[in-house]
Amino acid sequence: MAINRTSSHGEWSSRTAFILAAAGSAVGLGNIWKFPYITGENGGGAFVIIYIMCVILIGIPIMLAEVYLGKRGRLNPIASIRYISERENRSKNWQIIGLIGILAGILILSYYSVIAGWTMAYASRTAFGVLNNIDAAGAAVIFENFIADPERLLAWHTIFCIITALVVSRGVKSGLENAVVRLMPALLVLLVALVFYSAIEGDFANGIKFMLYPDFSQVTGKTILIAMGQAFFSLSLGMGALMVYGSYLSSDVSIPKTCVIVASLDTLVALLAGLAIFPIVISSGLEMTQGPGLIFQTLTVAFGAMPGGQLFGTLFFILLIVAAWTSSISLIEPMIIWLIEKYNVTRIQAAIFSAAIAWFIGIGTIISFNVGSDIKIFGLNIFDFLDYLTSNILLPMGGILITIYVSWLLSKEKVDSELKIKSRILRVLWYFSARVIAPIAVIFVMLNAIGINFDIFS
Ligand code: PFF
Repeated sequence: MAINRTSSHGEWSSRTAFILAAAGSAVGLGNIWKFPYITGENGGGAFVIIYIMCVILIGIPIMLAEVYLGKRGRLNPIASIRYISERENRSKNWQIIGLIGILAGILILSYYSVIAGWTMAYASRTAFGVLNNIDAAGAAVIFENFIADPERLLAWHTIFCIITALVVSRGVKSGLENAVVRLMPALLVLLVALVFYSAIEGDFANGIKFMLYPDFSQVTGKTILIAMGQAFFSLSLGMGALMVYGSYLSSDVSIPKTCVIVASLDTLVALLAGLAIFPIVISSGLEMTQGPGLIFQTLTVAFGAMPGGQLFGTLFFILLIVAAWTSSISLIEPMIIWLIEKYNVTRIQAAIFSAAIAWFIGIGTIISFNVGSDIKIFGLNIFDFLDYLTSNILLPMGGILITIYVSWLLSKEKVDSELKIKSRILRVLWYFSARVIAPIAVIFVMLNAIGINFDIFS
């Protein structure tokens, strides 16, 4: 039986609007900032291949399950699962999925907003020409000085939190659809232009070789686990973000097709970012393994040398801010609609409250790059700890619960009639992946995250 409850909080104006919003959530700093630096840290080609396999084998099946829950429940993540559990005679304890998601969203937003603040700072520096003609050594000094200054980081972080709160307080649809429809294609065009620049000016042959030539001798169990965590992060999985967007989806839209499009777009953007960055890293003598500063240093060298780089660089950073901002909206939205539906507060109150919590926790990330770099939690600084906790523990935990709940516990008839996967082979594959491959793989990630290592490759 198809589902025909209508959403209590509105619907997307079209399937395209949902695709754009979900892509707006997925495409963000994870693709352009995080993917290049963790690929750099994890040896290149083999990591990229494993990442793509994780997207296909684990990410897309879990995405289907997550959007399905939202579309069927049509409420906030916690209430959607309670609603579905009541109808399917399942324990209400499955609501924990929603709770994990809300927590993960706010924790991710707390550091995401700090990095988005770096992007804003770099947009303004590029616009004012501060970075013109800079070389690799100069870019490194500027970056080091920048992150050593907690007040400056705090100022940009605060501005980003305020912008996020302002937009979400107006409601998701009005702000988001417009921003995404216009600006995401522009980001894609600029990224392609940057790849061309990198092909002409950078060491493209070696950049491509680094990114696409797999050297599996470097792969350890940990490489696979990091790639998997990145697939969750980049596709916005395991925390209810896509569940919330799915809850605005009208009932006649095909979930599988939509999910495949969103995952493909997301992966395309990450690969383009890699193609743009690595040739320049090599030609300018920067280190692949330099971590979170990689794109800020590499891109400033590229923009500094490029004709018209001041304008192009400014535009690029502005579009990256927009991409970060459409993602941050989806990070905060599960908490906001939960507060509205549960506590009857206004959207503005919920937005201010949620952004304030993320802002406060974000201070921990800010000081982990400077005055608080010695503060360690389980041996990690605060930023690394939050990233680890969310990408490697909370998102996979949410993901595994979602896929087990949907593929094992809900009525197969209902799930089938909603997912409408026509090909029998694909349907069998989806069940196999959702029931078996994804849960086993995710358990593997989490055991490693708590320190139980299976270095099957070493
Ligand atoms: N997918 C976003 C990115 O790649 O930047 C980050 C993100 C957004 C993660 C929403 C999780 C989420 F629910």
